Amino acid sequence: MSEIKIPIPTRPDIIWNLRHLVDVDSTNSYATDLAKMGLPEGQIILADHQSAGRGRLDRDWIDSPGSSVLMSILLRPKFPPQFFYLITAALSLAASQTLQSKFSVSCKLKWPNDVMVADKKICGILAEAAYGGVENAWVVAGIGLNCSQSRDELAGVGQGATSIFAESGIRLSEEGRVDLAQQLAAQFASLYISLGDSDRRIGLRGLYKSACDTIGKRVRVEMPGETLIGVASDISPEGNLLVETDSGTRAVPAGDVIHLRKGL
Ligand code: BTN
Repeated sequence: MSEIKIPIPTRPDIIWNLRHLVDVDSTNSYATDLAKMGLPEGQIILADHQSAGRGRLDRDWIDSPGSSVLMSILLRPKFPPQFFYLITAALSLAASQTLQSKFSVSCKLKWPNDVMVADKKICGILAEAAYGGVENAWVVAGIGLNCSQSRDELAGVGQGATSIFAESGIRLSEEGRVDLAQQLAAQFASLYISLGDSDRRIGLRGLYKSACDTIGKRVRVEMPGETLIGVASDISPEGNLLVETDSGTRAVPAGDVIHLRKGL
């Protein structure tokens, strides 16, 4: 295990501290334990391998050691909890911006938590929150970013997937991966800080909307006990997906979205 402070100039009261582990069950579980122990926000857990990585909707997130950025960030937001969904938006934007600036890989965002390159998933986000009043709220924002998987390895993944190597031909060393994690964390940190200010929050929502491929698409949204079909028209100020259905506009805070072809 190694530990470094990342010099990210956000707020003087937040120290961004990266703990790099070789092996862990799940960086989200590890960061959740730190949250429950009362550690301050800004703790970043990075692992080379997870033995029990988790995706959304209780899915497994499987990696081979050293192939991905597997990272979770502990946050203690002071803004109202209805805006916590925007943390996922901020992390996906940060990933997309970092992939563009560092590797010239252009991404689109699929609401709520996927970063895509030409309809293939390069990165997924799992944000988990607990709210016990403003003083006791925490969010663990986890991200899994495919780095060095080859096209052959990715062909075995059910849903279309891609990686930095598959898209750019660049195979990151361990040092390169840690460096990428730090850049991604820094990019996210400045977007996260903007969520604390209502005007800047509107700006972030605008950025997310212009990067989001779901807007304007006909979609099927699967939620526990309900499926919606309609056209995704907008993102609400809280980060919900607005869907125009036959029975009116619905605001969806969370769900599994399938982009439908016209006519379906
Ligand atoms: C998804 O697309 O379903 C979300 C995947 C999130 C995976 C990351 S890897 C780092 C962090 N730790 C976990 O156990 N999950 C997230």
